[in-house]
Amino acid sequence: MDGGGAVDRPLSALVVGLGVMGSYHLRILDSLPGVSVTAVVERNRARREEMLRGHAQTSGHATLDEALRAHRFDFACLAVPVGSLPECASAVIAAGVHAFVEKPMAPGEEQARDLVALAGERGVMLAVGFVERFNPAVVALKRKLDAGMIGRIVQMHARRLSPFPNRDGMAGVALDLATHDIDLMRFLSESEVERVYAEAAGREQVDGDDLICATLRFDSGANGLLEANWITPTKVRELSVLGEGGMFVVNYLTQELMFFEHPTRSTEWEQLSGMRGGGEGDMIRYALDRREPLRVQWEAFIEAVRSGRPPAVSGADALAALSTARAIQRAGGEHRPTVPEYRPAAVA
Ligand SMILES: NC(=O)c1ccc[n+]([C@@H]2O[C@H](COP(=O)([O-])OP(=O)(O)OC[C@H]3O[C@@H](n4cnc5c(N)ncnc54)[C@H](O)[C@@H]3O)[C@@H](O)[C@H]2O)c1
Repeated sequence: MDGGGAVDRPLSALVVGLGVMGSYHLRILDSLPGVSVTAVVERNRARREEMLRGHAQTSGHATLDEALRAHRFDFACLAVPVGSLPECASAVIAAGVHAFVEKPMAPGEEQARDLVALAGERGVMLAVGFVERFNPAVVALKRKLDAGMIGRIVQMHARRLSPFPNRDGMAGVALDLATHDIDLMRFLSESEVERVYAEAAGREQVDGDDLICATLRFDSGANGLLEANWITPTKVRELSVLGEGGMFVVNYLTQELMFFEHPTRSTEWEQLSGMRGGGEGDMIRYALDRREPLRVQWEAFIEAVRSGRPPAVSGADALAALSTARAIQRAGGEHRPTVPEYRPAAVA
């Protein structure tokens, strides 16, 4: 890897883990100009061979050590189950290779802190795959919030509901699902989590990690309301941001962004206003350039590697989201408001 300055030669990439996410990453990296996937690591031989068909220029390995010994990489994409992310990320970073680590980066805060520290010591980039940040509807929302369109944010409400995904190594809804929305709430409000409260439920036991309803309080005074579960028969991915001057609603799946103005017109027909409220404002559904968020995420990462600028979503961001998810789990188990452990570090 090149230290510090701009890099304009072709970049050599490594993809580790070729399951559902790894196969998406491989497809996109393969199509990016100026990037060459030098090697992949997948411990399941049949899967590795299947994924390498038609990739004559890419070599396959059963272990990460083997790949790191055999080739030179500019960056690595780590898409292994959550429990294996820290070990793989440490090996890559220790080898001086920029790391793109799937979310939530680690199962525990200590491992996440160690990764952030190691990347700092080695001077390599540690970026984390909170892909919703690159959803065109979220990008457009952030611009409108920054322009002050709804003024101060009062509440953010995220719903991430679906049936159980049936994949190996799932870490529970707080880590696997809610971290996306926690990260977005921090990003959109530009504020840190002061405390959380939560109730949790499981499919078989009452206090499981299959469903959470959480409230979050941010330093800015904004409230967060977060529902995440994989018990709901239908798939829902929605976020609403309520401000003093109106409300935005995002559908992550359809990449739609809507704005609801506060009532400006009144209804003079009493019976109708009794049913649908006394007044109404305009509602706008924005036309957006819709793109695959994962592709936008990779373009941003490559740009960061080439320019030497920090990544859009850093290891510190992932630590904050993970730590908040952990606090939500504790609050759900102990039935009391909880302060995320990352707070002292973030405040300092
Ligand atoms: N960004 C997102 O929206 C999103 C969505 C789903 C999953 N994820 C994350 O992506 C990661 C992978 O999830 P998935 O759903 O693709 O899992 P998966 O089970 O489909 O794939 C994981 C793959 O990694 C391989 N593997 C496991 N340990 C390995 C190791 N040490 N070395 C090499 N290969 C190894 C497995 O054989 C498997 O093929 C997880 O960390 C998960 O949290 C992110």
